[in-house]
Amino acid sequence: MDLFEAIAKRKSCRSLIKTEIPMGDLEKIVDAGRLAPSGMNRQPFEFIIITDPETISKLSIVQGFIRDASAIIAIVADEKQSKYWLEDVSASAENMLLAITALGYESCWVEGTLLRKEEEAKAILNVPADKRLVIFLPIGKSLVAGSQAIKKSAGEMTYYEKYGQRQRP
Ligand SMILES: Cc1cc2nc3c(=O)[nH]c(=O)nc-3n(C[C@H](O)[C@H](O)[C@H](O)COP(=O)(O)O)c2cc1C
Repeated sequence: MDLFEAIAKRKSCRSLIKTEIPMGDLEKIVDAGRLAPSGMNRQPFEFIIITDPETISKLSIVQGFIRDASAIIAIVADEKQSKYWLEDVSASAENMLLAITALGYESCWVEGTLLRKEEEAKAILNVPADKRLVIFLPIGKSLVAGSQAIKKSAGEMTYYEKYGQRQRP
């Protein structure tokens, strides 16, 4: 899939159905995360590929729809490695969401609900106390067609040359 097609097609899917996902696809997705830019190239992120149905079910304490995921990629961050750690994990998450879309799967960036259950989720995944567990990407196929959330138009958020100048030069 062309990059711009993947950007346009990516959407948050919270109605997943189980599907077979080859480990090769999951590793390809993680590789897209690994290759993301990071402040001063510190790469303060690590990834956990989760396919065990029992673990996936336990992790649905974070958000109910996660129980229907066929796999979850969890992003672990080391806050001490870089002051840009949150930007860095975000860049890796978006790279992975685009890779997931390009491979024909669905996902959703799960962070808000994870932060409320971070300690419980860390215990389930044996994440060390001094590391952060920041983002889950549950992966599967979509139960419903769905579409990306409505976005503001380019005209509403784009200026040319100077802030406030909407006319193209
Ligand atoms: C930082 C961040 C945190 C998010 N946390 C959650 C979350 O905890 N649960 C959830 O269902 N969606 C979460 N989302 C997904 C957003 O709700 C979603 O991206 C937004 O509504 C736009 O929809 P779209 O992804 O279809 O474009 C999060 C997205 C971002 C970027």
